[in-house]
Amino acid sequence: MGDLSGKISVITGGGTGIGLAIAERLAAEGSEVVLVGRRKERLDAAASKIGPRARSFAADVGEESEVRALFDSMPHVDVLVTCAGGAFFGTIENAPPDRWRELFHGRFFGQINCCHYAVPKMRAGGAIVLCSGIGDSAYVPDYAGGAALCGAVNAMGKNLAVELAPRDIRVNVLSPGLIGDTAIESNLDESGVTKLFEAAINATPLRRIGNPQNTADAAYALIANDYLNGVVLPVDGGWTAT
Ligand SMILES: NC(=O)c1ccc[n+]([C@@H]2O[C@H](COP(=O)([O-])OP(=O)(O)OC[C@H]3O[C@@H](n4cnc5c(N)ncnc54)[C@H](OP(=O)(O)O)[C@@H]3O)[C@@H](O)[C@H]2O)c1
Repeated sequence: MGDLSGKISVITGGGTGIGLAIAERLAAEGSEVVLVGRRKERLDAAASKIGPRARSFAADVGEESEVRALFDSMPHVDVLVTCAGGAFFGTIENAPPDRWRELFHGRFFGQINCCHYAVPKMRAGGAIVLCSGIGDSAYVPDYAGGAALCGAVNAMGKNLAVELAPRDIRVNVLSPGLIGDTAIESNLDESGVTKLFEAAINATPLRRIGNPQNTADAAYALIANDYLNGVVLPVDGGWTAT
């Protein structure tokens, strides 16, 4: 699916960061793009930056009824990319378990909700790109629940790749290392962010963090190459190779 002319792509988290870079790339390849997030103004600003191929739909992907309304509004879907979600850090003793539940609500169940309502709208040749993170394969401090979430998304992606293959719908997972220039929300203060960046750079063989363009190029490859299926693709400068 290299040429995306006339295709419809839904990108959750498409208003900022990784999702926005992917939306820009897919629009540049000819796709119509639907940007999904909770904050309508931010989405509208992103859509007008992309141009006439982009539109926005405000929805909280953790809320099933809002995701149903999103896909009810669409004639069909060719590409689904699920980048909505934030991050949370805490030790096992200090992090209230409910905070991990909240993280799963948007970032894991959001992806399930989107797949559940998008798949019936997808035609043969469609592609899904889920978004996890390298937390299940490399140690990220104070991130036990997030690590579990990354592993859960990877497992879901591989399982769905097999389930949906008979319908010629491919499923792959983008697994970013630490990516800068995003608006990611977390509970870390400035010194916590600095520590995380230092730890990530030290753990990364390339000794630098990534940028949203790196993830957009990788997501496009997962969409365009019609023999990629069931892949978990780390975009991490080699962090998980160590
Ligand atoms: N940046 C990294 O280093 C990194 C590493 C590994 C994984 N990731 C994952 O990659 C994804 C993209 O992150 P990013 O770094 O690009 O951060 P970002 O710029 O904050 O993007 C996240 C987007 O998701 C939207 N969002 C969050 N919760 C949502 C919900 N419940 N429903 C709908 N939209 C929601 C946000 O918009 P609203 O707030 O307006 O809804 C925002 O536009 C996230 O899942 C993140 O956890 C990021």
